[in-house]
Amino acid sequence: MGPTIKLSSGYEMPQVGFGLWKVDNAICADTVYTAIKAGYRLFDGACDYGNEKECGEGVARAIKEGLVTREELFITSKLWPVFQDGDQVEPACRRSLADWGLEYFDLYLIHFPGALKYVDPAVRYPPGWHFDGEDQIVRSSTPTHVTWAAMEALVGKGLARSIGVSNFQAQLLYDVLRYAKVPPAALQIEHHPYLVQRELLALARAEGVAVTAYSSFGPASFLEFGFKHAEALVPLVEDPLISAVAAKYGKQPAQILLRWATQRGLAVIPKTTRLELMLQNLDSTGFDLDQADLDSITAKDAGIRFNQPSNYFSTDKMWIFG
Ligand SMILES: NC(=O)c1ccc[n+]([C@@H]2O[C@H](COP(=O)([O-])OP(=O)(O)OC[C@H]3O[C@@H](n4cnc5c(N)ncnc54)[C@H](OP(=O)(O)O)[C@@H]3O)[C@@H](O)[C@H]2O)c1
Repeated sequence: MGPTIKLSSGYEMPQVGFGLWKVDNAICADTVYTAIKAGYRLFDGACDYGNEKECGEGVARAIKEGLVTREELFITSKLWPVFQDGDQVEPACRRSLADWGLEYFDLYLIHFPGALKYVDPAVRYPPGWHFDGEDQIVRSSTPTHVTWAAMEALVGKGLARSIGVSNFQAQLLYDVLRYAKVPPAALQIEHHPYLVQRELLALARAEGVAVTAYSSFGPASFLEFGFKHAEALVPLVEDPLISAVAAKYGKQPAQILLRWATQRGLAVIPKTTRLELMLQNLDSTGFDLDQADLDSITAKDAGIRFNQPSNYFSTDKMWIFG
């Protein structure tokens, strides 16, 4: 096993894991199986990715063939906003567990802040952002502390070993920390050289919350959504500074982007379906960048965020406050 991060829950989280967003259902089981064979132990899934069953098939196959044991894996899933009402948290977690074929998650995260009105899984699953499956955004009145208490109950029932949050900014994280009986063990956020999140990382460090970076390659993951601000940027793996640092250390640009994040103390969860790149990404902690190189990458910060909910739905549609 590679480097790990000790969580406040007492469990160890691998520092380099595998992201499962947009891994097509048709190849997902094979991809997870191949990634386990390649050496990955952490898998970052979510109800919203719509592939938890296939992920579970890949895991089951690897366990059956003796490649790995359940205890050696670290599986993350996430609670979608429509399941944030207190009485929906446990059923949602159990549904994800059943899809994976697991007894417990190593980490279960609130995927986004802000509860949305419940959508029955019998109507649509995964439910996505829109209440009607079209364009309605319907708010639930459930505040975060209610959802968090239900998340804590999952730990009590052994359904999740650690719990945390994703896409929370500093003020909301600070709020949760003030009432949590089980503090969030991890915070998962968008983090790349265009969005370095300095203050949020400082707060998380001070409060003992481990941080996982997602979309480490920045705009690359968002081109398929036609985001103009992603298309306007030079891809980070082709960026002149990143390429120069890569040449200096005899590494690939992607490895530099991942090492920059892990040297900042973060975990990373790169996603690829190509074996060669899987191996490259996993092999990204065995060298150290000089402080000057770390600083020059950090200085690219431009406060550019790609993964915000309003980018996925039309803000000129009426919000319905239910
Ligand atoms: N909590 C959240 O809201 C949230 C949001 C976004 C993502 N995440 C998590 O974070 C994971 C990673 O983020 P992401 O999916 O946005 O993508 P990413 O890791 O930034 O990867 C983006 C793209 O880069 C390509 N790539 C991967 N390794 C590469 C390499 N070594 N060299 C060149 N290109 C490479 C991949 O292409 P190919 O696939 O074609 O190989 C992939 O499509 C997700 O899968 C998900 O688990 C969480």
